[in-house]
Amino acid sequence: MSPIKVRYRQPLRGRLAPPPDKSISHRAVILSSIAEGKSIIRNFLLAEDPMRTLNAFRQMGIDMEIRGPGPGNRETRDNEILINGKGLRGLKDPGNIIDCGNSGTTMRLLSGILAGQLFSATLTGDSSLRSRPMQRIITPLTEMDAVITSEQGGYPPLRIKGGKLRPVKYKSPVASAQVKSAILLAGLYCDGITSFNEPEKSRDHTERMLAAGGVEIEIKSLEVCVRGTSAINPFDLTVPGDFSSASFFIAGGLLIPQSEILLKDTGVNPTRTGLIDILNMMGADIRLENKREISGEPVADIYVKHSQLSGINITGDMVLKAIDEFPILCVTAAKAQGKTKITGAGELRVKESDRITSMAVELRKMGVNVEELEDGLVIEGTEKLKPADVQSYGDHRIAMALIIAGFTVDKETTVRDTECINTSFPDFIGMLEGLMR
Ligand code: S3P
Repeated sequence: MSPIKVRYRQPLRGRLAPPPDKSISHRAVILSSIAEGKSIIRNFLLAEDPMRTLNAFRQMGIDMEIRGPGPGNRETRDNEILINGKGLRGLKDPGNIIDCGNSGTTMRLLSGILAGQLFSATLTGDSSLRSRPMQRIITPLTEMDAVITSEQGGYPPLRIKGGKLRPVKYKSPVASAQVKSAILLAGLYCDGITSFNEPEKSRDHTERMLAAGGVEIEIKSLEVCVRGTSAINPFDLTVPGDFSSASFFIAGGLLIPQSEILLKDTGVNPTRTGLIDILNMMGADIRLENKREISGEPVADIYVKHSQLSGINITGDMVLKAIDEFPILCVTAAKAQGKTKITGAGELRVKESDRITSMAVELRKMGVNVEELEDGLVIEGTEKLKPADVQSYGDHRIAMALIIAGFTVDKETTVRDTECINTSFPDFIGMLEGLMR
């Protein structure tokens, strides 16, 4: 797949359903595996990251059947995963090390489950994942009595010795759905109530799915309380389209003149759609149509039309709801009129790559004036980006953002190191081309 050469071809027009949500796919496999009996997950994301989670549970003795032809069908939702859940205590010792690949969600959420098991397991990952901070889950899980060893400074591999856990009231210094989910999942194995408090509200897919599985869960603003349980009900759920994957088409639609697109059946959970609020403030023509709920998650069709954008200030509280959309937001800012300043985004330095530096360096290659801040960027918009030879740093969202940037330029841009797109969106190029027919 690598490298990919792109240049302006034509406007993006038409409708498509973005691929299934990655965060929800992970959670669906995890909770179905520890539920009692048969669950069915429709429209599961068959990409590398959620497959890491699926294979980890297969390694721990859970039967899964994948039915259907897989990703890549425009407007069809036709895969199904059948999972024979064995209950909270039904997992078996995985035997070998569990390889989480590039997936932080697999490693952090699985740690919460493993903390409650009566066996020990080791989690590792690729070089990117092995350089991501895990102390943020080690500290609370250790307070709950799990025994976790890691590399110096709290880096993977993690060796987790589970056992009887005790409930805690944990105040997290970082707003993170992965940390929150790890603690709530560990909380299922406790007697009594585990409470997790975070400085801002991170995505709430775990809470919604736990409630759907009959778990007692209470949400009070920034605090979530879960009561330990002996059983979770099996699931029949449909995964909505991934807003984060849709964001690349949203940006393409806004930036490429004469574009007009409709993104069908896309998840619009308010903890995820900060990008829409930000782009609307920048002057974008984006509308949510046909709003409804699918399996407890808000879903809509997103209408997007080419728009002239203006730079704005984007601060802390807006950042978390658009945390994964930062690379593509930088591309839209690079094409907006005037300056865009993003601050309060320090977490971006510990994602699949250091996304602040990655975007600053690569956008500069495309002729953009960028100032790098400790916790963000200042981007001076320009009417025309320059063609360039750019790279992804092995980060799927950087690769896709740069491909969209390249499609706005008349001359050819080369985007290198694009294999990583398979972690979240294997059919990205195919779907993008589908909008150019
Ligand atoms: C995710 C949470 C976020 C996000 C990541 C997926 C999840 O990470 O960036 O891509 O599925 O819970 P943090 O919890 O580290 O903010």
